Amino acid sequence: MSILIKNIKQLLQVRETNVTIVAGEDMKHLPVIEDAYLLIEHDTIVEYGLMRDLYETEAETIIDATGKLVLPTWCDSHTHLVYAGDRTQEFVDRINGLSYEDIAKRGGGILNSAKQLQNTSEDALYDTSAKRLIEVIKMGTGAIEIKTGYGLTKASELKMLNIIQRLKKDFPVKVKPTLLAAHAIPEEFKNDKNGYIELIINDIIPEAAKNKQAEFIDVFCEEGYFDLDDTERILQAGVAHRLIPKIHVNQFNAFGGVGLGVKYKALSVDHLEELNPEDIEVLKGSVTIPVALPLCSYFLGIPYTDGRALIDAGLPLAIATDYNPGSSPSGNMNQVVAAACIKMKLTPEEAINAATINGAYAIGVSNMYGSICRGKKANIIITNEMPNYHHLPYAFGRNHIDQVIINGKIFE
Ligand code: NIG
Ligand code: FE
Repeated sequence: MSILIKNIKQLLQVRETNVTIVAGEDMKHLPVIEDAYLLIEHDTIVEYGLMRDLYETEAETIIDATGKLVLPTWCDSHTHLVYAGDRTQEFVDRINGLSYEDIAKRGGGILNSAKQLQNTSEDALYDTSAKRLIEVIKMGTGAIEIKTGYGLTKASELKMLNIIQRLKKDFPVKVKPTLLAAHAIPEEFKNDKNGYIELIINDIIPEAAKNKQAEFIDVFCEEGYFDLDDTERILQAGVAHRLIPKIHVNQFNAFGGVGLGVKYKALSVDHLEELNPEDIEVLKGSVTIPVALPLCSYFLGIPYTDGRALIDAGLPLAIATDYNPGSSPSGNMNQVVAAACIKMKLTPEEAINAATINGAYAIGVSNMYGSICRGKKANIIITNEMPNYHHLPYAFGRNHIDQVIINGKIFE
């Protein structure tokens, strides 16, 4: 199986050597070849270059991309794509004046989604989740992280992991599973938070870590959820079972969660709508990438992560959807790229780096995904005709995608 894409107007994110992360000033640079070709064999990118250097290369499929752009698929490093039902009533309640925190306090929010998920069969959940995954692949996502966290019992958290494993097996995109049992304190443990933490540490983590059912450990480190001590205990237990930390921090309150993530070599710290100068300092020189979730800010009306400050401090930044029923009911990475430019003042180059190579870093797959590089997986977006790549965030809300190639096959 081979595919030759010819007459590409702009081939984006081309890397001669296998770069796995870009930070600070380097994020301003998006390597582009104008009037290019790209050759795919089986599931791998084997060659690319200028059209004028292409001599009669044979391929089973030839795609003429005149007027179109080609780029690596988006890497969505933060989603809660497996969920039951929806939270449209809470959406309307918020419009009428309640806050996200008010709704959570009266038993809505994450606990509402947990109740719905616990009462839904694994097969029914698989079906709705598979539909969502197909939807986001068509929008250009080729690698994705998916969290548990709406189970909140051992059985339901493992049910979620099972579904994520089935998606991983049944779909050609890269799927990375995260255990987020520490997403909220379940109703039954309302007066016994420690009891739930012990269940997570002694029971859920050991089971989830078996056969790499989960690869990452996540905690919602936030007032009213899990404090620094709780988060530290859960991360320690996760690390002891070889899970890599990735945490929800600084969404509503900043109280040191970023430093804790760095201490435990978290691969990423996500949200950061509230950011202190100390948080920026502690990230310098660490392995931990900050991840911004601008659709969550948009949907909840909370501040946007100060991505400018992070990048201007020399740090890397990734952006992701946070696809979930409560704070971002959209898995559209194109919209994330646009929001990063429009609301966070990232340049198109920075936003595309954040959504491809840095997103891949944030889930530990940037050796094989996130750029156009010989030997990397052939996960490719072919856009509709457009003047140049600035058009992607500029003409927001439009469908820019013509075709998506995953593992060297056109995704239909
Ligand atoms: O990343 N903040 C915690 N978790 C999700 C939202 C979960 C929900 O509201 O269902 C988030 O925004
Ligand atoms: Fe989230």
